[in-house]
Amino acid sequence: MAKRRSLHYVTPQKLPLTGGADGQTRVNYDQIFDEAIDRLHTEGRYRVFIDIMRNKGAFPNARCFHGHNGPKPITVWCSNDYLAMGQHPKVIEAMENALHDVGAGSGGTRNIGGNTHLHVELEQELADLHGKDGALLFTSGYVSNDATLSTLAKLLPGCVIFSDELNHASMIAGIRNSGCEKRVFRHNDLEHLEELLSAEDEATPKLIAFESVYSMDGDVAPVHAICDLAEKYNALTYVDEVHAVGMYGKRGGGITERDEAADRIDIIEGTLGKAFGVMGGYIAADTRVIDCIRSYAPGFIFTTSLSPVLVAGVLAAVRHLKGSSEERDAQQAAAASLKAKMREAGLPVMDSTTHIVPLMVGDPVRAKKISDILLAEYGVYVQPINFPTVPRGTERLRFTPGPTHSEAMMDELVAALVEIWDRMDMELRKAA
Ligand SMILES: Cc1ncc(COP(=O)(O)O)c(C=O)c1O
Repeated sequence: MAKRRSLHYVTPQKLPLTGGADGQTRVNYDQIFDEAIDRLHTEGRYRVFIDIMRNKGAFPNARCFHGHNGPKPITVWCSNDYLAMGQHPKVIEAMENALHDVGAGSGGTRNIGGNTHLHVELEQELADLHGKDGALLFTSGYVSNDATLSTLAKLLPGCVIFSDELNHASMIAGIRNSGCEKRVFRHNDLEHLEELLSAEDEATPKLIAFESVYSMDGDVAPVHAICDLAEKYNALTYVDEVHAVGMYGKRGGGITERDEAADRIDIIEGTLGKAFGVMGGYIAADTRVIDCIRSYAPGFIFTTSLSPVLVAGVLAAVRHLKGSSEERDAQQAAAASLKAKMREAGLPVMDSTTHIVPLMVGDPVRAKKISDILLAEYGVYVQPINFPTVPRGTERLRFTPGPTHSEAMMDELVAALVEIWDRMDMELRKAA
């Protein structure tokens, strides 16, 4: 697998300098910023926000304000509101009630005025979801990873973190911000992980950080095998279940619930903004760890807590998905169906064992062009995924079919893709 990303935004170069009227040499800041943006245009990975409004109750239908004669009806194919819980009547009702009951914002940090009963209830609900003693809310999944990983490793003197090479940017940020030693193991490669673990001193504190579902390729970590290694080398385990909570396991506890591995993981991290349909992030762990993060993590302590309106919506979503597998089952069925239709049409759908349906393009300019044509001519909204989210040369379109994408929508999508593939002289690989 190609090396993933360099986090340098600017390749070292000679600083552009200008001579000021006063004879002093000055840094030309405008030129630096212009060149930074120009580089993205040249590489075909300048990002454009698509201006849309979803139609409540009719997901994945939305309106698009992009272009001149909008708003135009479109179908959303790249939402991470995987189960459409962001529009579920129970979630909407809970948020409306909370708004009228307690008002809009939380009014403070958790320590100073911003702790509501809803926050406490949601943490209990999430702890129960993962079979842990405690949970802690953050303002996003990104913040939960960054704040927890950086704080954990600072609490463990001399800690070494073992990090899967495809870990999300927020885990990488947390590991970097911890200032501790990091060993990157090849993606899901147990032999490599063991080689790195065995090279460390027995007395060194160790933490293995990985994801359960890797959201750009749609593959899954060998959770039990990683836990076996963690036990053998006395390492803590930290798993990001952002793309799995709500969607896997009988109650939506993620891959660790599905694989009956939750009790072997020290810290489970998740988001409230994807399958749970609202916003926020959390960790679930034993109370000792929760108490440490709650007490030491600046990213938890020094920020306004989640709005109680959001928390109420998430509570409704988590409670609903604990008791209902209907959305999960329908999502899996939709993903399987779309993959089969794409494969049958000869489209280069990547091997994904999960709900993610990635279609390989392998070039950023083409990926953007296909996405532009889909939106302008077919009312299909799917964002191109470029470096640094995926390695260069593996640019792709990432589809996330859900319970509300119909077979007819999928047929239209596949027909549109085949037409564009032909138009752009790209190869279709029909099965013999
Ligand atoms: C693997 C992973 N972890 C964490 C996050 C961050 O979660 P959030 O969007 O809640 O900040 C993302 C976001 O896409 C992600 O893909």
